[in-house]
Amino acid sequence: MVKAVVCGAAGGIGQPLSLLLKLNPLITELSLYDVVNAIGVATDLSHIATPAQVTGYLPPDNGAEKALKDADIVVIPAGVPRKPGMTRDDLFKVNAGICATLAQAIANACPKAFILVISNPVNSTVPVFAETLKKAGVFDPKKLFGVSHLDIVRAATFAATVVSSPADAPKYSIPVVGGHSGATIVPLLSQSNPKIPAEILSNKEKRDALVNRIQFGGDEVVKAKDGAGSATLSMAQAGAEFTEFVLQAAYGKKSRTVQAYVFLGADSGGEGVKKEIGAEVDYFSVNIELGPAGIEKILPIGTIDDQERTLLAAAVKELGPSIEKGVSFTPAPP
Ligand code: NAI
Repeated sequence: MVKAVVCGAAGGIGQPLSLLLKLNPLITELSLYDVVNAIGVATDLSHIATPAQVTGYLPPDNGAEKALKDADIVVIPAGVPRKPGMTRDDLFKVNAGICATLAQAIANACPKAFILVISNPVNSTVPVFAETLKKAGVFDPKKLFGVSHLDIVRAATFAATVVSSPADAPKYSIPVVGGHSGATIVPLLSQSNPKIPAEILSNKEKRDALVNRIQFGGDEVVKAKDGAGSATLSMAQAGAEFTEFVLQAAYGKKSRTVQAYVFLGADSGGEGVKKEIGAEVDYFSVNIELGPAGIEKILPIGTIDDQERTLLAAAVKELGPSIEKGVSFTPAPP
């Protein structure tokens, strides 16, 4: 019996994500929360003939906590998305407050749940979640994930496109570390499996273009949607896939190595990564091994080349202030 909750379920990501979770046979109860239209979306999905029972909740009468009650996993695409010309950081003011409120509701209603944060800027909203959960005395660093999985999905698609054809994307596995915005996104092309041919990796122009496309892939979508939002469908797929990985490891006995933006601070087991990157950052997208309790192990970044070392240094520089912003955020009084 697995109860999953989507917060922000009526939105551009929330609706297709909820649909994909409704199709997931591991989920028996699907609870949808939003400030608008959650009941309509839940009613619609409830007619699909799969086992998950779907219920929608709106804010009145403590709707958030009712939706979250005893959840096993909570996925959060709540908040405002980017418009052309905006950075993810521009969203902080609004989304940090939404994230702090939802974190408090999770602390009250389902403190042991896995928490998957999609709301941007992920580099700052994950620290907002952690700080709120710490204050409530229920922070478990093994269960809090910033979802950077779309960067990994994009890396595979764009690398395959350059090497052969986008049709080969499913064959590619390319770790992406750092953070989830622009220069903090560091694709480790040298660790690609299958290998990216040397004529691309050692050609500065071709390699820089591929790295840039992975780092700024989100902008392609924002521009193409021309004011109608940012990535929603690809994000929903990436979010559903990452949810599946966490659930498989927790309930399906299938541990696996993935990357996510997680806590590297005290007692997290992240000391080794901090040494590798030579910086004291308390949050980073890293290789993690998932198991029944969430993050079983934070794994090393491993062997990287000079170009990747330069990218990592730039990522760390930009990440520091974004993390600090999230850590020091004080929500407005209710
Ligand atoms: P959207 O505006 O279409 O949907 C957001 C939903 O959140 C809306 O239905 C809204 O009513 C709801 N909402 C607002 N305040 C809420 C609250 N207090 N409690 C519950 N729900 C609330 O936006 P979209 O496109 O779905 O994006 C959602 C977030 O995901 C944005 O912050 C966006 O930047 C982020 N995102 C993250 C990505 C990632 O890779 N992690 C990729 C793409 C987007």
